[in-house]
Amino acid sequence: AKLSVRDALGTQNASGERVKVQGWIRSVRSQKEILFLHVNDGSSLESLQVVADSSFDSRELAFGSSVEVQGQLVKSLSKRQNVELKAEKIEVVGNCDAKDSGFVHIHTPIITSNDCEGAGELFQVKPSSKIKVPEENFFNVPVFLTVSGQLHLEVMSGAFTQVFTFGPTFRAENSQSRRHLAEFYMVEAEISFLESLQDLMQVVEGLFKTTTMTVLSNCPEDVELCHKFIAPGQKDRLEHMLKNNFLIISYTEAVEILKQASQNFTFTPEWGADLHTEHEKYLVKHCGDIPVFVINYPLALKPFYMRDNEDSPQHTVAAVDLLVPGVGELFGGSLREERYHFLEQRLARSGLTEAYQWYLDLRRFGSVPHGGFGMGFERYLQCILGIDNIKDVIPFPRFTHSCLL
Ligand code: 4AD
Ligand code: MG
Repeated sequence: AKLSVRDALGTQNASGERVKVQGWIRSVRSQKEILFLHVNDGSSLESLQVVADSSFDSRELAFGSSVEVQGQLVKSLSKRQNVELKAEKIEVVGNCDAKDSGFVHIHTPIITSNDCEGAGELFQVKPSSKIKVPEENFFNVPVFLTVSGQLHLEVMSGAFTQVFTFGPTFRAENSQSRRHLAEFYMVEAEISFLESLQDLMQVVEGLFKTTTMTVLSNCPEDVELCHKFIAPGQKDRLEHMLKNNFLIISYTEAVEILKQASQNFTFTPEWGADLHTEHEKYLVKHCGDIPVFVINYPLALKPFYMRDNEDSPQHTVAAVDLLVPGVGELFGGSLREERYHFLEQRLARSGLTEAYQWYLDLRRFGSVPHGGFGMGFERYLQCILGIDNIKDVIPFPRFTHSCLL
């Protein structure tokens, strides 16, 4: 029989009746061998718990997807509900972009007074001289084109728990490389109540894989065209990335690996120094061309907001970069320093106390462990399409000495 969620929940003494329920997935919780879905069709404030075993493909069963579930209505062992539905068949009626699973889209500003990455690679914004307000006084403070929407996302993650943004970001990086632009697009996400890099890496790997599979299934001809004429063999390399679990190594391990091969590099690898593109590419090769997370970088190399691991004498922060074949760094992220006194000291040491008082204040009013990441969109295209130069994945590339039209 077909039941509404309301009727299913109202069933007294459920004992294995076969029923069919239709609705939208309100939450997904996966445990080792078992998957719990909460499904609602609007007939009730409460959702119906659906229990599915590991034979179901959990990738399609995402927040927001509409489903038709057939199974047995049974008494629930949990105190929170009377009945639950033991799934025998789950059909996805309409799937829901996995990137949107519970993440609220925020438009973060392009003009900002902060230098999130603290690297000083800023383009300053001023009104043209025709405007009758003195240059510096338009906003009262110097303002710049944003290098990252992260700090604004951190504010909003305190209201919506999981947030993301996708927009242009700008870096005055004076580097003529195959992976740097002065204007590029970045996908950034921020998650409250996130306690470990492990959890963050799971989101990153999931985002990379689901997005790539969606691209492959929605526009196979375009991808094939690139693979055929520009990057032969890329199809297999991409499949290799999707099929394998991404690897994880610490920065310290990475430096040890690089030291073994130091004769290959222009820059000598040593603990405390930044990883160069040549190092990153070597690490990926070393890992069998599987994307690899490098975690726990030296505190001295990273911006003020990254969480202190308190692991003296090394002194690292809970940072993570995802390195991918052909490109090197594709994602950069971290746990954020949510502890007031730690952040206060970090800001003081960088002379940023005054400018970031508002950011420090976020740690005074209901601060929670949180973290997030950013992914360069053009580098993502390079990675999946196998395109060597970043200037070839964007119609109007901006880089040093080049902004013609
Ligand atoms: O590693 P980045 O600098 O991290 C941040 O900006 C963090 N605030 C993100 C966050 O946690 N919300 O930049 C993130 C990614 C890099 O991994 C890279 O893919 C890309 O942005 N990126 C660039 N892409 C093209 N040209 C450039 N000049 C880039 N700089 C960074
Ligand atoms: Mg980075």
